[in-house]
Amino acid sequence: MELTNRKAIILGGTSGIGLATAQALQSQGATVIAAGRSQENIDKAQAAGITACQVDVLDEDSLKALFAEHAPFDILVCAATGGNRASGPFLEMDMAAYQGSFAKLWGYANGIRYGAPNMSEDGAIVLVSGSPARRARPGSVALSSVGGAVEALCRATAKELAPRRINVVSPGIIDTPLFPVPEENRGSFLSGATKDFIIPRAGKPEEVASAIVFTIENDFVTGTTVDVDGGWLLS
Ligand SMILES: NC(=O)c1ccc[n+]([C@@H]2O[C@H](COP(=O)([O-])OP(=O)(O)OC[C@H]3O[C@@H](n4cnc5c(N)ncnc54)[C@H](OP(=O)(O)O)[C@@H]3O)[C@@H](O)[C@H]2O)c1
Repeated sequence: MELTNRKAIILGGTSGIGLATAQALQSQGATVIAAGRSQENIDKAQAAGITACQVDVLDEDSLKALFAEHAPFDILVCAATGGNRASGPFLEMDMAAYQGSFAKLWGYANGIRYGAPNMSEDGAIVLVSGSPARRARPGSVALSSVGGAVEALCRATAKELAPRRINVVSPGIIDTPLFPVPEENRGSFLSGATKDFIIPRAGKPEEVASAIVFTIENDFVTGTTVDVDGGWLLS
């Protein structure tokens, strides 16, 4: 897919990986609309030169209105975390918190269901999962369950959505505001979390964005997952 004059909607495009993707697509000539909930992140995205609007991916009406306003569009990226993520030992985990972690999946499902009918026939969808989908650490059962479901959703929908394409990009540990660690402790937190990886550092949002752009541009790729994880899966 040639990106010039294509229209892209990035759910969760006002921060981190989504924002880096919005910037990468825009720099290659696409028209980009980023969506998120908080005005604070919307302001940050706009300050970075990205058109951004207020949408909650769990609010079906606001999502439908966004898609209708920008139809037809060509690219949909689902990168919204959706809500809080539960962590810690599974047997002690609060069930409501475990279920709440699936807000990410419901947001992605809403994005596909309401977005795809408004997309061009040669459009491309990208979902962002995460390495725990296929390599869990103790304490990450919720992340693993949700990530696995996201990857299954991609594979399960690929045939139905054709000729539109759908792919997953699965990041390892990426330095984004998802980790609300103060600046003074951030370096040691991220290096501690990645020290056993083949590439022992946190990834940059731009490194994930380039994989997202790859799956959008390459017309021969659908129903698959691209890992951008510094070798987490083999570590
Ligand atoms: N960073 C990592 O290490 C990492 C690793 C594996 C997977 N991932 C995945 O990568 C994706 C992006 O994460 P990130 O690191 O870029 O996080 P981030 O910097 O916190 O960005 C998350 C984005 O999602 C938006 N968002 C969250 N809930 C939303 C909702 N209900 N409706 C609309 N927008 C919503 C946020 O804006 P508002 O909060 O203002 O709504 C923000 O724009 C997520 O799916 C995450 O699970 C990240």
